[in-house]
Amino acid sequence: MIESRFSLGLAGVIACLSLSFGPVAAADEAASPVTGSAEAGAAKAAVCAACHGPGGNSANPEWPSLAGQNAAYTREQLAMFKSKKRNNPVMFPIIEPLTEQDFADLAAYFATQTPSGLEADPSYWKAGEALYKSGDVARNIPACAAAGLPDEESVS
Ligand code: HEC
Repeated sequence: MIESRFSLGLAGVIACLSLSFGPVAAADEAASPVTGSAEAGAAKAAVCAACHGPGGNSANPEWPSLAGQNAAYTREQLAMFKSKKRNNPVMFPIIEPLTEQDFADLAAYFATQTPSGLEADPSYWKAGEALYKSGDVARNIPACAAAGLPDEESVS
């Protein structure tokens, strides 16, 4: 008698477990990372070119260039615009209807594009190079190189 109650109880516990874990497993699948397709992203990026330029090379400093940007970074920015963690009234309505798959495809596409027009005036990048290598004690800015960040020669 005790034994059969136990086995009924156990069956009940197992039934409960499978009920409660069913939806959890489905949610995990939905949250699993999606893989981006640059081809699919190219078609979806037509609307972006109006501001970010052809292939993500922007001619207007108000609109950042996206060409050649790391895909993980781009995806994260798009997700943050949608959640308003990065609050921008221009970007929000554009990406609000888009999905995680759209973000992954767009990010994959822009990562494959070649950046252009980045040739800076040497007077600017020389100042940046000096800050990177030596920092500026007077302004309490530590050297980036001291933080162990790779300099351009060691980045392949
Ligand atoms: C109406 C103009 C406009 C359009 C169209 C537009 N964007 Fe933007 N986008 C902006 C502006 C302005 C910013 C800068 C926002 C800020 O300062 O935070 C921006 C920023 C971004 C950033 C962040 C870049 C960075 O370096 O952090 C990404 C990524 C981005 N847009 C992707 C897209 C994608 C993908 C599309 C097309 C689906 C798109 N944008 C369409 C205006 C636009």
